[in-house]
Amino acid sequence: MLRKAKIAVLVSGSGTNLQALIAAQEAKEIKSGEITLAISSDPGAYALTRAVQAGLKTAVADRKALGREAFERRLLELLEAEKPDLIILAGFMYILSADFISRVCAPIINVHPSLIPAFCGEGFYGLKVHEAALERGVKVTGATVHFVNEIPDGGKIILQKAVNVRQSDTPKALQRRVKEQAEWVILPKAAELVCREIIASKEE
Ligand code: GRF
Repeated sequence: MLRKAKIAVLVSGSGTNLQALIAAQEAKEIKSGEITLAISSDPGAYALTRAVQAGLKTAVADRKALGREAFERRLLELLEAEKPDLIILAGFMYILSADFISRVCAPIINVHPSLIPAFCGEGFYGLKVHEAALERGVKVTGATVHFVNEIPDGGKIILQKAVNVRQSDTPKALQRRVKEQAEWVILPKAAELVCREIIASKEE
């Protein structure tokens, strides 16, 4: 019987979402899963330091050095060796190809910093999402955790949380508040929900 789902987390940057997952695991808010591996697409990402400090196993698939095809091959090798039950994209900056998604060994979930279907899909990543939201003048934005399929940001939605936009917001200020009030809250919750489902499905 599977007691805890094995989780691999893919990161590219500062790793605050990874940190939220680690904290939730320590606080037992994530209890149906356990992060066993963090993979970074950038050898210099601060997320790797956070992972090492938390005692996690780490690996690098260097996107810039490898180019897209070799990068995805390396990711697949790492994931096939680890055999996670769930893959979490936590601030992972690259769109994975349909071929990769059809070959990979586990379901993938992603956190996106807007209320999908607004400000999502190709070209909407990082600060660009918040710049676009402010430019359009939306009064409410937020974050979404969703399953990953072959359509960028197009998979089934698991959780969403709204955040009010302030008149004084800059893209950076909004990005920070969306992380604090939405991403760091719903990503660990969604991870627990999905891990619970994975465990239940393996018991059937
Ligand atoms: C987050 O806003 C995430 O939604 C987006 O990139 C940012 C990464 O932040 N895809 P961090 O590396 O988790 O701090």
